[in-house]
Amino acid sequence: MLPRTTFEFMELHGTVDGFRAALDGERCSGRTIGLVPTMGALHDGHLSLVRRAAKECDVVATTIFVNPLQFGPDEDLERYPRDLEGDRSAAEAAGSDYLFVPSEREMYPREPKAHVTVTTTEDGLEAASRPGHLDGVATVVTKLFALTGPCRAYFGEKDHEQLEVVRALVTDLSFPVEVVSCPTVRAPDGLALSSRNAYLTADERHAAPVLYRALEAGQACLESGERDPTVVSRVMSDLVGTEPSVRLVYAEARPGDVEWRLFVAAHVGVARLIDTLAVPVCAAPVDTVTAGR
Ligand code: PAF
Repeated sequence: MLPRTTFEFMELHGTVDGFRAALDGERCSGRTIGLVPTMGALHDGHLSLVRRAAKECDVVATTIFVNPLQFGPDEDLERYPRDLEGDRSAAEAAGSDYLFVPSEREMYPREPKAHVTVTTTEDGLEAASRPGHLDGVATVVTKLFALTGPCRAYFGEKDHEQLEVVRALVTDLSFPVEVVSCPTVRAPDGLALSSRNAYLTADERHAAPVLYRALEAGQACLESGERDPTVVSRVMSDLVGTEPSVRLVYAEARPGDVEWRLFVAAHVGVARLIDTLAVPVCAAPVDTVTAGR
């Protein structure tokens, strides 16, 4: 790694050509690029990605684009939180050297004729409850990878299916990108940080950590020896059911070779929140008979 470039100010780009040329220039000077794709309304989860990229790469490029392709018709595209001024200073303070904030017209100058379609490793979950969402993510991430060029790209583990999709893009479409997954950042009461937490009223904010408590209940259930995914899932959904203001979308426990993965999604007021937790297999050896039911 070269000594970190010290920019007096973070460079802001709004055009694909300008952003691409800037990063090409950095690579020509032998610098490595860390890419942090976001939709803005940056919180400490995003900033942990920027900080990690700043440690591991010579130059950090953060992108902010509220991608319409990944929102369903009844979802929150219009009211998705936007705070460019706050994001600019937060990204710069966390160590970002470039901020790419394209308009919708810049990213999609015409009705796209090419889309990326993915089959996810996890059936159901987000793929089933938000049809088209992961394809929209895959399409915009493909564009961001294409215009950034060789880089390390940083994504949060909270969006586990998104991470799997991005990994699949890199493997299947041979992008010169190393995907780096980073741990979920939580509030002290366990609530995973999310830009959508901004929608929560005080009462809803009080209720929302039930998602994390449900994951913890699933983990405790596995650690106590339970091996039936249906039972573990039920423990999680029952826990969410203890908060009347929280509307469950799904709670599922899925066994894997190395770890079980617990997933939960719920509506809290107008906010649709998701969370996930990995439980190592050594804490929860899988009984293949019950797990396969
Ligand atoms: O996780 C997000 O913020 C978005 O899904 C991403 C990866 C920036 C694509 O729009």
